[in-house]
Amino acid sequence: MATTAAAMAATSVVVLDRGNNTTCTINLHGATVVSWRVNNQEQLFVSKLASFDGKKAIRGGIPFVFPQFGAWSFGPQHGFARITRWHLERAPDRLHNGDVEAIFSLMDNEFTRSIWNYQFRITYRLILREKELHFHIGVYNPSKELSFSFNMLLHTYLKVPDVRRCQITGLHGCHFIDKTRENALYQEGREVVTVNEWTDRIYQHTPQEHVITNVVSGRKMRLHKYNFPDTVIWNPWIDRSREMSDFGDDEFPNMLCVEAGNVTSPVILLPGTAFEASQILQIIIEGNVSRKTKRNR
Ligand code: BG6
Repeated sequence: MATTAAAMAATSVVVLDRGNNTTCTINLHGATVVSWRVNNQEQLFVSKLASFDGKKAIRGGIPFVFPQFGAWSFGPQHGFARITRWHLERAPDRLHNGDVEAIFSLMDNEFTRSIWNYQFRITYRLILREKELHFHIGVYNPSKELSFSFNMLLHTYLKVPDVRRCQITGLHGCHFIDKTRENALYQEGREVVTVNEWTDRIYQHTPQEHVITNVVSGRKMRLHKYNFPDTVIWNPWIDRSREMSDFGDDEFPNMLCVEAGNVTSPVILLPGTAFEASQILQIIIEGNVSRKTKRNR
């Protein structure tokens, strides 16, 4: 593609265009994926009240949570990566098979060191396929002496017609911390999880795959993850929606957060070592899945 990294980085958004009205838009503020359209159908929820002022985290899409999940005595909730401007390392580039790739990076700077005094380098590689979006993350510790520990999570807001009709697989038998019940620990007894009230749970040691039913157009979405042992399920429901200035009171039925991450046991990165994790979001086209997945690998 003709656009250079420098020209794109001058603006705030980067667009991957796969053709057939299949695009992915990333805002450099937080390297937040703010749109993923497949054949012109938006798959991600972004609030109508989301702020794009480059200060607050963007309410919706896929914010990048690092190096802290949740409240943090040193800095902002969910860390600084989602409120820092990232660098476009490689502008969108078409691969031989027609897929489109772009790479973003974030390094420590004066701002990050004022909160968390460690050197680090993150690379975030996104690949847009016909019906899939791939996320590959690398974190490197360039220090010669200091180790650091961190949480990381992809805070995916799925767009759904009615959250009450969604089912999430893969959580049966998993232990979870229920943030709506003073962080008590429970074990999931349901085959599939549904959301019918304020929900804020950190499921631990979850399998590599979840399927979420009744997303856009009544389809199913597969979330495949590697090196992300936890899955957070969140919906603020009515009362908590009212408390958020950047979220409409009536929007909660149209979103479901399924968030893959390292939350309950932080990752410890020794000097000179790297950590890798990835996620794939895939729209399931009934009857055609295994063939397509195989061909794409
Ligand atoms: C979820 C947390 O991941 O993010 C919730 O489990 C939190 O507790 C939610 O409310 C949204 O967080 P924020 O900082 O974007 O309002």
